[in-house]
Amino acid sequence: MSTATTEAHGARPEIVLSLRGVSKAYGEGDSTVHALRGATLEVAAGEMVAVMGTSGSGKSTLLSVAGAMVDPDSGEVSVAGESLVGMSASARARVRRERIGFVFQDFNLIPALTVLENVTLPLDLDGQSRATARSEARRALAAVGLRERAKNFPDELSGGQRQRVAIARAMVGRRRLVLADEPTGALDSVTGDRILKILRTLAEEGAAVVLVTHDARHAAWADRIVQLADGAVLTETRASTPDALLVGDAR
Ligand SMILES: Nc1ncnc2c1ncn2[C@@H]1O[C@H](COP(=O)(O)OP(=O)(O)O)[C@@H](O)[C@H]1O
Ligand SMILES: [Mg+2]
Repeated sequence: MSTATTEAHGARPEIVLSLRGVSKAYGEGDSTVHALRGATLEVAAGEMVAVMGTSGSGKSTLLSVAGAMVDPDSGEVSVAGESLVGMSASARARVRRERIGFVFQDFNLIPALTVLENVTLPLDLDGQSRATARSEARRALAAVGLRERAKNFPDELSGGQRQRVAIARAMVGRRRLVLADEPTGALDSVTGDRILKILRTLAEEGAAVVLVTHDARHAAWADRIVQLADGAVLTETRASTPDALLVGDAR
């Protein structure tokens, strides 16, 4: 369990992500696709939730809405206590920048920037000083085992290393919410486990983590597993990380 930070004061853990009755359709007329139909989900600080479901069930749309990248047609969305509905585009961009770390399957690294520059980017955008940004980025790179790769460019790294750079970038600035869409997609199982363990650590340190995965073994790292079907939450089950997964050092 991961609630050490939040239970220490006997208070209920803070809800970092709240989605209530969220609907989102793409297209119009006969070609309308209802990607989300009244999806409801809460994720607390210190909690890791796995979202599962068949292809097309709305998982990526759910993450895009949670990440303030897609505006829902209806329903309530709030991140770290701020309601996103009706917010201006620039205010949403600020929430995205300050509160949310994203880890996508295709990494979204900028090829022309070094590993270190990719990781400092969100901090630069936050307006942090160059020295602070660099030292925090170095710390995040060390945490994912890539201290030695700071000066390399993304295309000089393996897929697993690139994914770890993306995670380091999502870690800097102590984002309250970390969203990962099938982050282990094309990676071998050892690298995949390592990434899961890093996400788990972010939750232990107090972030709310949402992981989309089709792999039940990865979902077992979460506190809860949410099953999506046809754009709504079908079931929620508590998970418990098998002890066997926790031994060894993933870094
Ligand atoms: N930008 C888009 N334009 C049109 N349809 C989309 C778009 N994004 C997703 N969809 C459709 O919405 C449904 C849900 O997609 P998605 O959220 O990507 O599901 P999942 O991640 O579970 O596979 C699918 O039918 C998909 O084709
Ligand atoms: Mg998807």
